Amino acid sequence: MSDINQFNITQKVKDSFETEPDSRFEKILHSVIDHLHDCTRELNVTHDEWMGVLNFLYDCGQISTPERHEFILLSDVLGFSALVDMINTRGGATEGSNLGPFYLDDAPEKKLGANLADDREGVTVLVHGTVTDILHKPLPGAIIDTWQADATGTYPIQEQEQGQDKMDLRGKFTCDEQGRYYYTTVLPKPYTVPYDGPVGKLLRAGNRHAWRAAHLHYIVRAQGMHDITTEVFFENTEYIDNDAVFGVRKSLIAKLEPAKKIDELGFETEKKPDAMFKFDFVLAPESKKR
Ligand code: BEZ
Ligand code: FE
Repeated sequence: MSDINQFNITQKVKDSFETEPDSRFEKILHSVIDHLHDCTRELNVTHDEWMGVLNFLYDCGQISTPERHEFILLSDVLGFSALVDMINTRGGATEGSNLGPFYLDDAPEKKLGANLADDREGVTVLVHGTVTDILHKPLPGAIIDTWQADATGTYPIQEQEQGQDKMDLRGKFTCDEQGRYYYTTVLPKPYTVPYDGPVGKLLRAGNRHAWRAAHLHYIVRAQGMHDITTEVFFENTEYIDNDAVFGVRKSLIAKLEPAKKIDELGFETEKKPDAMFKFDFVLAPESKKR
């Protein structure tokens, strides 16, 4: 019997699994074991420290519910969600960004020009742009699925007990023959990610805030194209340089303008906007490799 020690244990653990050679599962499993063992050795981790890690993960599990997934939040604040978004953005396509916890797949269909915000308080903004492929060919019929917080930084779904409708401030728009979309809504405000649990404790321990820069969420789909899940942010707004979940990319920052030139655009909107911005989405074809 060969002895086991702190240097050969890593190989022994990997060998203890009978995984299909060179499979994706084996690659990921071995790499995770390698990196975590290396880190444990390098840091000379103590029993107390390791128990602290395990208890932290236990607490994440304890606070999680079908509506609150603390591990996703952990992935968000540690930049893993953003890293996976970055790795999976296809060349030439709009960059991906956080899905967040408030997406509902059955948002109501809305007509182009509709006002998403009904009579909510806030700055009414015209949001418009195109959906094209990476060669700038418009994609008529593309679907813009959007959801957002209101002008106080709250998602209606968070305030259902106060009588709000979870379907408010969300909708699906179908692009016209020129691949254009346009609607009005209220400008959202920044809000905090949930920080009353273990992830909040981690943020406080590291002197970090929990604020997200104000944003609009989008999933954009078109036939034969890869969907994108992304967010649009606004120039010169709070937390744009230090979003709690690392969602901001330069290419996702829109520039707000006064709605003076709206007549030139020729859009018919349900509500007259105070401001406007343009954001064009670009989708990669399904056949395109990353
Ligand atoms: C959001 O954008 O809605 C969100 C993202 C990550 C954590 C919490 C909320
Ligand atoms: Fe959000």
